[in-house]
Amino acid sequence: MMSLFSNIRFYVLILSVVLSLGEYFFIQQWFSDREKVAMLVPLYAYTALVYLYLAMLAGPLTKVFPFFPFRASYLKARRAIGVSAFYFGVLHARFAFYDFLGGFAAIPFLDTRYRIALVLSSTAILILTLMAATSFDYMVKLLTFPKWKMLHRFVYVAAIFILIHAILIGTRFQEFLIIRIVLGIGTVFLVGLHIVGLLRMYKIFKAPEDSHG
Ligand code: HEM
Repeated sequence: MMSLFSNIRFYVLILSVVLSLGEYFFIQQWFSDREKVAMLVPLYAYTALVYLYLAMLAGPLTKVFPFFPFRASYLKARRAIGVSAFYFGVLHARFAFYDFLGGFAAIPFLDTRYRIALVLSSTAILILTLMAATSFDYMVKLLTFPKWKMLHRFVYVAAIFILIHAILIGTRFQEFLIIRIVLGIGTVFLVGLHIVGLLRMYKIFKAPEDSHG
């Protein structure tokens, strides 16, 4: 019991549940019935995206900047951050599919753009589900680390599918330039960190700790 309360993953998961409830009740309180779903769907979507980004950033950021403050805690929290991305993704998908689109009955009336976006997002949800279901030490042992790592590399496929999904059907994404700019900068930063990490691995760049002597 003691170890649960000293585990940062526990606090990340509690924070995510509290945040999801806070967002839900905020929308219920401040928006009209007509606006509620249209606000809740993108709010959960972008919260999921922020968590996903933070989970994907942890590895390359702490590798390129080994003296990054709270490095150990950030890396330890990474799996819970990933599970939170899955949690908000499911919340978003639930409200988007049933309340925003109209559920299975609406599928025959959706145009091709929507159908492609939904196939991509369903695949992304499947990947996030598999990742969340295997985000425990027990599963790492069961799968063995190389296979577990390989499965978790699919997060890049999920992220690309989610981005295309948002580009195709995101109302806020199309409406607000700032969202496109932030996502663009975030993507370039993440890809840049990976490139620097790879160059260092092949010793083309020297890591800061190597450059002292
Ligand atoms: C089967 C699963 C999913 C369904 C049915 C679904 C459905 C939708 C729909 C209908 C929209 C358009 C909402 C609007 O115009 O305001 C949307 C947008 C979006 N979705 Fe999903 N989605 C799913 C999975 C995901 C996942 C897993 C993520 C992220 C982790 C995600 C992220 C987004 C984002 C960022 C937007 C753009 C919101 C906006 O700019 O308005 N979606 N989704």
